Amino acid sequence: MIDLRTPAELDRMREAGRLMAELLNACCDLARPGVTTGEIDAFCRARLKTLGDGTATSGSLGYMGYPAALCVSVNEEVIHGIPGGRVLQHGDLVSLDVCGAYHGFVGDNTRTVAVGGPDALTPDARRLLRTTRRALEEAVAAIRPGKRLGDISHLIERLVAEGGCTVVKEYTGHGVGRRLHEDPPVPNYGKAGRGPILHEGMTLAIEPMVNLGKAAIRVLDDGWTVVTQDGLPAAHFEYTVAVLKDGAEILTPWFERDPWTADWMAG
Ligand code: MF3
Ligand code: CO
Repeated sequence: MIDLRTPAELDRMREAGRLMAELLNACCDLARPGVTTGEIDAFCRARLKTLGDGTATSGSLGYMGYPAALCVSVNEEVIHGIPGGRVLQHGDLVSLDVCGAYHGFVGDNTRTVAVGGPDALTPDARRLLRTTRRALEEAVAAIRPGKRLGDISHLIERLVAEGGCTVVKEYTGHGVGRRLHEDPPVPNYGKAGRGPILHEGMTLAIEPMVNLGKAAIRVLDDGWTVVTQDGLPAAHFEYTVAVLKDGAEILTPWFERDPWTADWMAG
């Protein structure tokens, strides 16, 4: 069952999404050399208490037993990295995933940032970042009511392959609304012309998880952290979007602080 949001519900999704995007951007600002991932978590936890009118949820904390307010995944960690004592270093590629509910609706969003700035990355890591971001942006731009979800999934898979990278298949994007994970799953691979038809009022988390090397992943003994088997880095970008009459609206506008037209993104 795929829920459709009313215009009033969409307004609440906009509110939740904007707050989570602002929080994500603030967390990304902290990802600098010498900072521990646990410090970012502490900041995120504290900030969640004062977001909006102060009724935002505690983010990822407690979701299926997850132990932190956000996910911080470094280098070969793809998703669900648990923040802790790890000290960020110049050149690390860090994915920050922030989600939470506000007035009954959830916003979910992710950015991968380069510690020390994009110039700190190897050319391959830069290509990974650019490829993943481009896959997300173009997938969102392709959304229209009447298309099939498989059209979007297939586009992501094709763009990632064109960038010489691989998509992770074991985890997917998802419907998002009153709950973090709703129908439908949104795979980052698939066949055009297949899957559910997109309708006005659907709200989706689109989130390509992309590896620089091989697609194979495994879960660490902590039960959460997903890493690449070959140890090469991964990237992850995510927006919560609403399907509207003329296309998708990005409900988590973190791009306002990270324009993808920046020179280094193009090169
Ligand atoms: N935001 C992640 C998602 O898109 C989930 C983080 S909560 C966790 O599904 F507990 F699963 F880590
Ligand atoms: Co998500």
